[in-house]
Amino acid sequence: MAVKQTKNILAEHWLNVARDKSTNSESFRNALANLGAILFSEAINEAKLRSKTLVQKKQIKTPLIKTQANTIDQKDIYIVPVLRAGLGMLSVMKDLVPNAKIAHVGLYRNEKTLQPVWYLDKLPKKIGKRSVFFILEPMLATGGTIATVLERIEKLGVRNISVISALIAKSTVKALEAKFPHVNFYVGAIDPLLNSKGYIVPGLGDAGDRIFNI
Ligand code: URA
Repeated sequence: MAVKQTKNILAEHWLNVARDKSTNSESFRNALANLGAILFSEAINEAKLRSKTLVQKKQIKTPLIKTQANTIDQKDIYIVPVLRAGLGMLSVMKDLVPNAKIAHVGLYRNEKTLQPVWYLDKLPKKIGKRSVFFILEPMLATGGTIATVLERIEKLGVRNISVISALIAKSTVKALEAKFPHVNFYVGAIDPLLNSKGYIVPGLGDAGDRIFNI
């Protein structure tokens, strides 16, 4: 539906820790995970409005009385980390929705054709109509990789899809919104530039290299 830039000051704080060149790999991972958790909270809060089953009323017993409580039914939740950088947001998702299914995907760009090529695809072959997808792709630069992943997921018939990203380049916003009108993109910030090497500017550098300290 749209690219939604968070207004949360805590998200902005952790994004700026990640942007800082002097932040070491351990602190970078922590910053990206914290940012991911905040964006995911915003995403799931809206995803519940598009789902009849994500939130279930349950009777629970507190130490004092029985009461009705909203809980998240995690069996239809899929988390899709796009390798490598998506792994930097995964561990916190495992804490927040520990019973979600995790479908790793990996693509590289063929240097001659410039087309994305799949090297890992753990997406299920069949999917229930109620499935709710959260794709972890911290950097939306040209948008080529995420577009390939989204096309594949939409072909499965999934309609409740959110993308969690630290940054998107301004020039990519309109193209993704036009191509994927049913997808919500939750981003830490919209950065003004994309340089000739495909890096987002000001950006945060190569997210994968900074996560894995290489
Ligand atoms: N991927 C990155 O890791 N960083 C960028 O700036 C763009 C794509």
